Amino acid sequence: MGEEELFERLQAFRADDLDTKGGRTWAYVYDPGRADVDRVAKRALLEFYDENALDPTVFPSLLRMENEVVGIARDHLGGDDKVVGNFTTGGTESIMMAVKTARDHAREHRPDIAHPTMVLPVTAHAAFHKAAHYFDVEAVTVPVDTTTWKADVDAIAAACDERTILLVGSAVSYAHGVIDPIPELGRLAIERDLLLHVDGCIGGFVLPYFARLGREVTPFDFTVPGVTSISMDFHKYAYCPKGSSVVLYRDAALRRHQLFAKAAWTGYTVINTTFQSTKSGGALAATWAALNYLGDEGYMDIARRTLAAVDAIIAGIAGIDDLSVMGAPESTLIALTSDTVNVFDVVDEMRADRWYVQPQLGFAGSRENIHLSVGGASLPLVPALLADLSVACERARVHPTAPPDASLVELLESIDPATLGPAELDLLLAGAGIGAGEAGTPGLPERTAGINAILNVCPPELAERVLIEYFNRIYVPPAR
Ligand SMILES: Cc1ncc(COP(=O)(O)O)c(C=O)c1O
Repeated sequence: MGEEELFERLQAFRADDLDTKGGRTWAYVYDPGRADVDRVAKRALLEFYDENALDPTVFPSLLRMENEVVGIARDHLGGDDKVVGNFTTGGTESIMMAVKTARDHAREHRPDIAHPTMVLPVTAHAAFHKAAHYFDVEAVTVPVDTTTWKADVDAIAAACDERTILLVGSAVSYAHGVIDPIPELGRLAIERDLLLHVDGCIGGFVLPYFARLGREVTPFDFTVPGVTSISMDFHKYAYCPKGSSVVLYRDAALRRHQLFAKAAWTGYTVINTTFQSTKSGGALAATWAALNYLGDEGYMDIARRTLAAVDAIIAGIAGIDDLSVMGAPESTLIALTSDTVNVFDVVDEMRADRWYVQPQLGFAGSRENIHLSVGGASLPLVPALLADLSVACERARVHPTAPPDASLVELLESIDPATLGPAELDLLLAGAGIGAGEAGTPGLPERTAGINAILNVCPPELAERVLIEYFNRIYVPPAR
């Protein structure tokens, strides 16, 4: 294929993708609202695209950049000279590394524990469950306060036992954008001699700026006694290209458990800090570039605009009768719920108006809601967002998607996901309207409220089984 034609094809592939810039997409992407930041980061990404972080002794530039980037994160999160860390590809990898580190730390220091557990609030990110699944550390989940949506420290203490090795808190949680009581969790961790990971993937970078702008921010970083590791994503509120996060540890003695080396095979000796072995230096160089280009002042300026947008949205929602804000958001994330309209219809109506707002299903007392990730490009769009949300609610009232009736709910609850065969899965997928399109495409209808309404009442284990099957069917190479 010729170069021109090839790029035309690539552009055409994008036809159904969400906008990544411009502020109309309120999840998945983070727009600083400044094209120069993207330009600089992408230039650095391409510059170091070919270097291989597999071996820092032969690409010392990457070692240098990683140490500098980790140093910036350490200083940002109140770490002292003992704090160390590594660059990873994202929040999930950072969290998984922290859980693996805790497991291997326990294997050395608590060899009596055959089957370790970690205790997390139900609001902790799914990545902890992924880590549990991969590393055989059982996740014990604990309900949160259903007014503040923050971790209940007494409930966490009650869930700890002789198998517990790790506690988890978020700063902030994705669903409700609130900070767990990290100082109390730190005290509990010290009292019980446990590790404590703070998931600052989404809030870690921006919260120190909000504190400097005068907001009350619950301490969550290394200044809090008992915190032993923190994850923080640069590819979210530091506006770096995707594939950019950091996991930090209180000291190198703990971080040692993260590292892997293998000399007993016939090839080159492998020493890895994180999951990947071969990895491009591109995302790291782009991160180094964005951090140094924007600098403290640049990020402060973006944080100021972002905070103004958060405040304007919360104030504006108070004027929309159909919607209300869940809890008291402390960062950049807002969850909107409704007593009068089906929020999934509102999501569809917004989509029809070229906005993307994210549906969140109900779970553990947190009812279904609409998620907004507010960022550097949001402020000028807030009046239009609020006006269109209001209209979307009116339209949602006129054409409501009925919630699934009691008999369907009963049927879904009676199904044992473990026993489902291909024929039953076909029926369930078809019944929910999922995957009806051409092979290899998402195959979702334009309006997804019906699907979301069913998933919302579906037992999570059944939803997981059906959704795995769905992905197993859409990730297929084109027919010959
Ligand atoms: C609080 C929190 N932790 C972890 C993650 C996972 O990050 P990633 O998608 O980069 O793997 C997210 C993603 O939104 C998050 O909000």
